[in-house]
Amino acid sequence: MDYFRYVDGRLLCEDLQIEELAARHGTPLYIYSRRTIVEHFQRIREAFAGVETLVCYSVKANSNLALLSAMRREGAGFDVVSGGELFRALRAGADPARCVFAGVGKTDEEIEYALERRIFLFNVESWAELENIDRLAAARKTTAQIALRLNPDVDPSTHTYITTGKKENKFGVDLELAVHILDRWKELSAVRLVGIHLHIGSQILKVEPYVDALAKVKGFLAACRARGHALAWIDMGGGFGIFYKDRDARPAREFADAVVPLVKGYGCGLILEPGRFIVGNAGILVTRVLYLKESGKKKFVICDAGMNDLIRPTLYSAYHRIWPVRTEPQVSGPAPDESTWKGPSHVTDVVGPVCESGDFFAKDRSLPPVGRGDLLAVFSAGAYGFSMASNYNSRPRPAELLVSGGEALLATERETYEDLVRRERTN
Ligand code: LLP
Repeated sequence: MDYFRYVDGRLLCEDLQIEELAARHGTPLYIYSRRTIVEHFQRIREAFAGVETLVCYSVKANSNLALLSAMRREGAGFDVVSGGELFRALRAGADPARCVFAGVGKTDEEIEYALERRIFLFNVESWAELENIDRLAAARKTTAQIALRLNPDVDPSTHTYITTGKKENKFGVDLELAVHILDRWKELSAVRLVGIHLHIGSQILKVEPYVDALAKVKGFLAACRARGHALAWIDMGGGFGIFYKDRDARPAREFADAVVPLVKGYGCGLILEPGRFIVGNAGILVTRVLYLKESGKKKFVICDAGMNDLIRPTLYSAYHRIWPVRTEPQVSGPAPDESTWKGPSHVTDVVGPVCESGDFFAKDRSLPPVGRGDLLAVFSAGAYGFSMASNYNSRPRPAELLVSGGEALLATERETYEDLVRRERTN
């Protein structure tokens, strides 16, 4: 469910026409719907209401300050993986006592910063990291709260690059090692074990891997308690999948129905770190067609956005629905796609201007005829779109708009050529 809709063949975000927004702000342009973000956040909160739950929005999915601040107003905490993300969350008004910090490679500076701001907890990924946090916390005469990230060796059936809970992944510690860490805990003085962390992957479309992961840690929870650790939290991470192509994503309620009784049974509260589920379908990338081109048997639609603006198709072979912003006047409702569209169409690659053959948004996609100057919307681009954008080919990054009803906030200005070289020097 989102608030991008065609009305009489024209695409709207909430109450605003995409064509008008693109005319005013230029392209490529990211456009987000605030109402979609808030509703997804609320859907998670409501689904998991059966157990004490802290929803920490995963900043990496989309770290724009306006979005973070919208979520903070809804009561979100934040899941960060770097000092920069913590800085952003705090700049958006986050309560540090609702921030959790994950990642296998936290630097001393990042740990110091998080200790100084008194974040809620560190999701710790190795003994070496734990020792280091203990040393830094002791030096500050403070105690750091810890959730040990476990690697439960479950397969979430998603793309290998976004699978994190299998034993060959760099994340977390396996259950055997986790018990050794418990045995050595007495060597530490400034860390308190308050929970476990279990993020197993992203774009997960099944409930079972979560259930399997929880089942596998039962013995470990008992081992913690037997050694006197007052475990209060299970952090299940994020990973809830969304619709890209097929309507195969599970509603939050289904995850909740399976997870809540288990977490309650373990006598713990729940931390969730959803990113994609909240912002994924809340954003589109709008791009203008520059040229049409044919080469051999192939047809190309060349547009002004590239892989530097949205890298998901080439990095993960990800499917994003693409449709013209203005289409046949009889179209109303959600974006059509190649499987539902009955009108005229061409099979084409949708590509960008970047000098790489991997610079594409779609290959052999069936699209209605488009011409130079037409606008295309790339859907479900709210998560891991702008946040993974780069300046490759010295391309200024796009502007970002946050639409709320009939208002559009210019959440990020488009970069300029001057921005590209602002921090550089010649000799
Ligand atoms: N918590 C932790 C510890 C994570 O590593 C992640 C994502 C999340 C939460 C949020 O996961 P989500 O709810 O968004 O699935 N760039 C990739 C996705 C990378 C996910 C990395 N970790 C993509 O575009 O598909």
